[in-house]
Amino acid sequence: MATANRGQWSGKTGFILAAAGSAIGLGNIWRFPYTAGENGGGAFVLIYLAFVMLIGIPVVLAELSIGRKTEKNPVGAFKALVPNSLWPYLGGLGVLTGFGILAFYSVLAGWTLSYLYGAVTGIYGGVMNAEESAALFTHLIGDPVLTISLTAAFLFLTVIVVRKGVSGGIEKATKILMPLLLLILIILAVRSVTLPGGSEGLAYLFTPDFSKLSGTVIMSALGQALFSLSLGMGAMITYGSYFPKTENLHQAGIAVALFDTGIAILAGLIIFPALFFVGVEPGAGPGLVFIVLPSIFGSLPAGQLFAIAFYALLAIAALTSTISLLEVVVAYFVDEKGWDRNKAAWILGGLCFVLAVPSSLSSGGSAMFTDFLGTGLSFLDINNIIWGNYSLTIGALLICLFVGWQWGIPTALESLESSGHKMPGRNFLGFLIKVVCPVAISIVLIYIIVTQQYF
Ligand code: PHE
Repeated sequence: MATANRGQWSGKTGFILAAAGSAIGLGNIWRFPYTAGENGGGAFVLIYLAFVMLIGIPVVLAELSIGRKTEKNPVGAFKALVPNSLWPYLGGLGVLTGFGILAFYSVLAGWTLSYLYGAVTGIYGGVMNAEESAALFTHLIGDPVLTISLTAAFLFLTVIVVRKGVSGGIEKATKILMPLLLLILIILAVRSVTLPGGSEGLAYLFTPDFSKLSGTVIMSALGQALFSLSLGMGAMITYGSYFPKTENLHQAGIAVALFDTGIAILAGLIIFPALFFVGVEPGAGPGLVFIVLPSIFGSLPAGQLFAIAFYALLAIAALTSTISLLEVVVAYFVDEKGWDRNKAAWILGGLCFVLAVPSSLSSGGSAMFTDFLGTGLSFLDINNIIWGNYSLTIGALLICLFVGWQWGIPTALESLESSGHKMPGRNFLGFLIKVVCPVAISIVLIYIIVTQQYF
């Protein structure tokens, strides 16, 4: 039977760690804090939390229900449910998106390795001013050989895990990495919150100032919720397809969403108090973690240890996410094309590396990719817009429409409850998937098309 040779999580905990590993990534520890910082703090955080509850959790459950029912990758899943329709193309878009995201995500993930190295060798031990830190960053991301090597190294680590399969690779790795991640996060958060002035950082994060609300803030919050929960490309379909039949899936899915959200908040608890401690503005944008933090580690007590722990955390979080991105693509080739998993992991990881080269070169390494085709955007930015913004949003919208209107809520619920555990609030969930999610996600889609602002 398919299940036997595809593999399965050993139980609910194995699934929760792996799926939370997918969800918790650069999105939580790099993107969430700077997006919250750019969008004024508390009001953004509040809206983000509301979106996780009203949109994120329903879409997580919608994807998981498809995966559990079909026990297949995204393409195979739609083929099994509605053969001879256009829906399998939605699965195909998901597989392509996984590949597209991995090809730029692995570049950013590679940077974390260099920062980890820098932290260990003590580059961040002494006080460095903001200019020095920015120069260091520009130098790193603009060094073609270095960035390409780091990307290759990160993809190599990813392949090593994925080739070993679901329980022997992904679950084994995440069972070690996720507790480690949590431990580092908690230690760092306690350290940061207890810094003098730490409460100012907390106030920034938790006191909503509604005058800061705008269309962009709302769009960014929903986009961030989808990206952070790994939604819209079938990662949760794939991870749900390995879920043991007897366990409670909806409870596990909700646990993953709450875990992911809790970690984003914890990352905020690390970063904002530290920023306020040294008196740095929180609205620095994407450079927050790579430029601002290195310049403040030297002023923190035990700054070097703080730096090592922080970049180890970032690398671990990124790795458990790249694993899930590659897994979606590998699962497709294993299930649908009959490839051997080991072969699939190496070939697809290698191919992804080739596609990642232009993104590695697009932050200064090569002028052509840094300002791609005169757009003023880098190759990496463009990939983030195509795959990270449009594709995930369209994917999430269509998945809701599929579950809500084609497959039907009763069938989805049947799949979620097939272990015999009744889902609380099941009617409300149906309403969210059928109406609220499609409307909200469509609004965001229209907003990014019209304004060309991205999350
Ligand atoms: N959720 C991951 C993060 O926050 C990114 C991701 C998106 C992973 C989509 C898989 C699928 O970093």
